Amino acid sequence: MTREIRCNSSQSLPFSLELKEIIESKVYTPGRMYDILIMILTGEKHMPSLTEPLRDEHKELYPQVEMLRLAGDAVYESLTTSAHNKIEEAYYFLTHQLIPHAQAEDHALYPVIQKVMGAPQATATMSRDHVEVGRLTEELGTLRVHRSQLSITTLQAQALRRVLYGLYALVKLHFAKEEEIYLPLLDAKLSKAEAHEMFEKMEAAAHEAKAHLPG
Ligand SMILES: [Fe+2]
Ligand SMILES: [Fe+2]
Repeated sequence: MTREIRCNSSQSLPFSLELKEIIESKVYTPGRMYDILIMILTGEKHMPSLTEPLRDEHKELYPQVEMLRLAGDAVYESLTTSAHNKIEEAYYFLTHQLIPHAQAEDHALYPVIQKVMGAPQATATMSRDHVEVGRLTEELGTLRVHRSQLSITTLQAQALRRVLYGLYALVKLHFAKEEEIYLPLLDAKLSKAEAHEMFEKMEAAAHEAKAHLPG
């Protein structure tokens, strides 16, 4: 017996518009059908995308990206303890979290995007962003001063603010480009197994990058 699913009105459906769109897309791979079934059985309104782990990782990093801006806001010629803390927190985030994340992407995410797009240069501009993050982080490393130093020159303050605000804008836009351009592409093109393999490789690469950090 064949049962027909009618999707003429989202009002009459017991599940979300998202599910209606999936059904209407007529992409019925076994994995997709399994996801649809699970959504119906569990009453879940949103199906997690294949690239959800990377979106989650970005979500965890976002508050620290905001910290870059807040650190910039805190920099004046006289440095308070709070300003010192924010600068150090920003530097630690960049060196211990963000740069390993970027290295993992260069190693395991971007090659998959290049393959999916059929263009080896498809991620070159994004890798260049990573290089710039590294360069600005190095600059921040040389500009930061010891906690015991309670004042800096106007030029030093300007340079610190420039670097922190520059990193903030660069990283925020970079995340948006990954999430809005690349991840939907991977969601549409990768199988679950391919996505799983990619994230395992990313995790191993990030682990490796963190293992080589100076203490
Ligand atoms: Fe990236
Ligand atoms: Fe990223």
